[in-house]
Amino acid sequence: MSTIRLGDIAPNFTAETTEGKIDFHNWLGDSWGVLFSHPADYTPVCTTELGAVANYKAEFDKRNVKVIALSVDGITSHKGWIKDINETQKTTVNFPIIADEDRKVATLYDMIHPNADDKMTVRSIFLIGPDKKVKLMITYPASTGRNFDELLRVIDSLQLTAYHKVATPANWKAGDDCVIVPAVKNEDIPSLFPKGYTEIKPYLRMTPQPNLK
Ligand code: BEZ
Repeated sequence: MSTIRLGDIAPNFTAETTEGKIDFHNWLGDSWGVLFSHPADYTPVCTTELGAVANYKAEFDKRNVKVIALSVDGITSHKGWIKDINETQKTTVNFPIIADEDRKVATLYDMIHPNADDKMTVRSIFLIGPDKKVKLMITYPASTGRNFDELLRVIDSLQLTAYHKVATPANWKAGDDCVIVPAVKNEDIPSLFPKGYTEIKPYLRMTPQPNLK
């Protein structure tokens, strides 16, 4: 087990998946990546989650994000389950699922929380940047299906704030005004943020989302 923190290089691994053997870092290439774990195959909440993610493929593609799922069952089980997901969620699973029968990856990413369950993984999400660094970690309990709109929202925020000197306020969503980071001096604002800004407090300055036309 390793402790992974934001900013760390996402640990690399090789694994069998439903789309063949992968080396995780090679598979990521220059893309952003989402690695998310599932307690077990043929479980109801996981079935809806994998279907939801498959149905969001265009949203992930638009953001240059590759998605990979993990469950501690084997390839034959995964392949049978995919048929059920496709049928019940009206989709086609369009991303690999890692067969982590020996729990190698789940252990590497600390996805098994023994005080919750000693065998099944919790619902972890790791978002990894093109620099292979961990940008976001979210952990949900087995009983709560994840909110993938929230994941897309954070990806939008991270991809925006990587290129502009802004941060995003509470409940921000793409298109809303942004916070100018405290390190920017007022005199530099006109060149950095030609759309203008509102100073609510000297430390709280809002500007329209800079990368929108
Ligand atoms: C599910 O995916 O439905 C699930 C898995 C483990 C515990 C509870 C629900």
